[in-house]
Amino acid sequence: MKPQDLGDGLVIRNASREDIPALLEHFKIVHGEGVTDQLRAMLERYPRFSWEDSFIIENSNSGEVVSCVILLENAWVLDEIQVPSVEMEAVGTLNSHRNRGHIRLLNDKFEERASQRHPMIQTIAGIPHFYRNFGYEYAAHLGGGYTVNPSLIPRLPDGEDEPITFKPVKSENFKEFLRYREAHLPRRTWIRKIRPEDAAYLIYETTSPKQEAFYFYLVKEKQKTVGVFYLARWENRLDVVELYLDNHKYVDAVLRFALARAQEWNDIPVRVAQPNQKRIREYLSARTQVWEIAPYAWYIKIPSVPRFMETISPLFADRLRDTEFQHFTGELTITTYKEGFLLTFENGAFKGVTEKEERNPRDYDLRVPLGSLTRLLMGYETLDELMTHEPDVQCAATLKPFVRVLFPKLEAVVDPYY
Ligand SMILES: CC(C)(COP(=O)(O)OP(=O)(O)OC[C@H]1O[C@@H](n2cnc3c(N)ncnc32)[C@H](O)[C@@H]1OP(=O)(O)O)[C@@H](O)C(=O)NCCC(=O)NCCS
Repeated sequence: MKPQDLGDGLVIRNASREDIPALLEHFKIVHGEGVTDQLRAMLERYPRFSWEDSFIIENSNSGEVVSCVILLENAWVLDEIQVPSVEMEAVGTLNSHRNRGHIRLLNDKFEERASQRHPMIQTIAGIPHFYRNFGYEYAAHLGGGYTVNPSLIPRLPDGEDEPITFKPVKSENFKEFLRYREAHLPRRTWIRKIRPEDAAYLIYETTSPKQEAFYFYLVKEKQKTVGVFYLARWENRLDVVELYLDNHKYVDAVLRFALARAQEWNDIPVRVAQPNQKRIREYLSARTQVWEIAPYAWYIKIPSVPRFMETISPLFADRLRDTEFQHFTGELTITTYKEGFLLTFENGAFKGVTEKEERNPRDYDLRVPLGSLTRLLMGYETLDELMTHEPDVQCAATLKPFVRVLFPKLEAVVDPYY
C-alpha cells in the first residue's frame, strides 16, 4: 500500500518492523498495559502475518500511531471442511482522534487486502455494535461459561494425591496438545483452526504476571494423556479454555489446579469457558451451580455467498441423507434483495451455485437480506427463527422443509482467543 497523506501531519500506511515500539505504545494506551507481550508475539511471530496486513494512521510529527487495524489469516472448521477466514485484530484509535472516521478508512484498506485473500468468512470478536458499521452480522455464539467459586470445589482429602498431573505444553510438544484436541473435537459445529506452527505466537514468555498469556497443559494419568486445556490469563481473570477430558471425574482436579495458579497471580477469579463435551459441561454446571457468564457472539461477514456455499457444499449430501430430500432433484433460488443465486441439486447431490440476474424478489424461492442469510448459513438461526422476527425473510411454502434441512442450527462454541 502506498502511504497517503491525510493532512494535519497524518499519514495512512502499512506498518513495518521499525514501528513495533510505537505500535506497542499505542496498544498500551488504547487496550491496556497487559496486552503488550501478546501483541508483540503476534506481530513478531504470527505465522501467516506480513506487514502488508497491518494498517496504521501515524502522526508523522510525533511518530505516534494514532489508529491501527491488523489482519490475521486463519480458518474456521466445520466437520473437517476448512473455511478460510480473515480476522480483524488490534483495532483502536487514540482517544484524542476518535470519531473522525479513522477506522472506517483503515477498514477500506483492510477490505482491499482481504479481498485479495479470497476468504470465505471474515470474523471478529468485537465490542458491541461497532462492526455492524462495516457490514458484519452477529452469526456465531461466542463465550459464556461458568464461574468457579472456590468454596464449591471439594478439597483434596488429606494424604491423597490428585489422580492426574498437569504437564505444561511447550512449542516442542504443542502437537501433542493438538492431537488430543483434534481427536475430541465435536462434530456439526464451528471450530477455530489451531495449527502446530501457531505455538510460535501462542506460547511466549511474559515480562510480568500482569501480562495476558496462555498456558497450555496435557492432563496425564500416569504416562497417558487423558485430557488437555489451556489457561488464559486476561483482563484480570483466569479462564480454563478448550477443556477436553477422557472422563468428567478429572474436572475437580483441573479446577483445583486452576484455582492454585490463580492464587499465585494475585488471586484473580477463575472461570471455565463452555466446554464442547456435553458431559463435562453438565458436570461443571452442577459443580459450579451457576450459569452466569452471558454468551456474546462473533461478528461474521460472508464476502461471497457462492464461494461460501461451494466450500460447505460437501456437507449438503450428509444433511439431506435420511430425509425426504435424499434424492432431491431441483433448484433453490435465493435473493438477498440485492443479489440472486441459483443452487442446483441432482438426486440429492449439490451440483453448483450460480449468480442470477433476476431482480424481482417474487421470482425467488427464498428471500432473505444478506445479514439474515449470514445467520442462516452459519447455523446461528434457523429459517423459522429468522421468520419470527424478520418479516423480509420469506420462503416458498413447499421449499421450507428443504431449507430447514439444508441449513440446520449449529451449536458453535468458538473460543474468543487468538
Ligand atoms: C472503537 C474505536 C476503535 C473506534 O475508532 P474511531 O477511529 O473513533 O472509529 P471511526 O471514527 O472510524 O468510526 C466509524 C464508524 O463507527 C461509529 N462508531 C464509533 N465508535 C463507535 C462505537 N464505540 N460503537 C458503535 N459505533 C461506533 C462511528 O460513528 C462511525 O460511523 P459512521 O462512519 O457511520 O459515521 C475506538 O473508539 C477505540 O479505539 N476504542 C477503544 C478500543 C476498542 O474498543 N477497540 C475495539 C476492540 S474490538
